[in-house]
Amino acid sequence: MKPEEGVRIELKQVTKAYGDKRVLDELNLVVEAGETLVVIGKSGQGKSVLLRLSAGLERPDSGEVLLNGVPADTYRIIPAQKKPFRMAMVFQGSALLNSLSVFENVALYLKEHGMAKGEDLDMLVMNALTSVELEHARDLYPTELSGGMRKRAAIARALATRPDVLLFDEPTAELDPLLSAEVAEVIHKIQSAHRMTIVVVTHNLVFARQVADRIALLEDGRIACSVKVSELLNAEYPPLRAFIEAAALA
Ligand SMILES: Nc1ncnc2c1ncn2[C@@H]1O[C@H](COP(=O)(O)OP(=O)(O)OP(=O)(O)O)[C@@H](O)[C@H]1O
Ligand SMILES: [Mg+2]
Repeated sequence: MKPEEGVRIELKQVTKAYGDKRVLDELNLVVEAGETLVVIGKSGQGKSVLLRLSAGLERPDSGEVLLNGVPADTYRIIPAQKKPFRMAMVFQGSALLNSLSVFENVALYLKEHGMAKGEDLDMLVMNALTSVELEHARDLYPTELSGGMRKRAAIARALATRPDVLLFDEPTAELDPLLSAEVAEVIHKIQSAHRMTIVVVTHNLVFARQVADRIALLEDGRIACSVKVSELLNAEYPPLRAFIEAAALA
């Protein structure tokens, strides 16, 4: 499948345990190409594990994680230049390198993988910074940024690789509601500019509702239910209702 048609993510009967704790238990989930899926779940339910498996950073004990039919861990080791599509991840703590400027942070992966150099590299980095409204901050260092700016710089770093799939782990974790809404705006902009598959894991249902096409609930190692965002408030499944009520959405 050509990347412009998007990337379909499929988790089939995925089980993952650490020691004798089974975190994911024969979990099934499909994220359609071009869809924005938000997986919500209580702390410790395995949201980050689910995302790491989707990125091929870890392997399931059993079951399969497929990206357009390619096992995620196989995809991971294909050299950057030869990958059939590109995937990027925005980590919970932003994971910027403090010794590098914003520009250098965003340029690093592209440079290290020989994906761009010279003027092309400058253009890719500046386009990514412009799309998160950080072009003025190119020469600042991460410690000089506010939490919201750091998150936007981390998003720019992911966008600079022009991904076909973008994974977000708790993008609003350290952000107040106004900054969370700002990140939601950035995601809206990404959604309208490119056809991209986006997976977000979070316990922030207010944010989930701002960005999702569909919301899935991770509970006891499985996807317990999934609803289109337009149908969220009508959901009857009690654990999902508990989330809705806790977020004061109903
Ligand atoms: N590398 C690991 N080694 C051992 N246990 C792990 C590892 N990664 C995750 N776990 C365990 O798996 C469970 C799920 O962890 P995970 O980080 O995916 O939860 P989460 O839903 O992302 O939680 P939070 O909302 O707090 O980020 C936890 O009990 C955690 O301790
Ligand atoms: Mg987590």
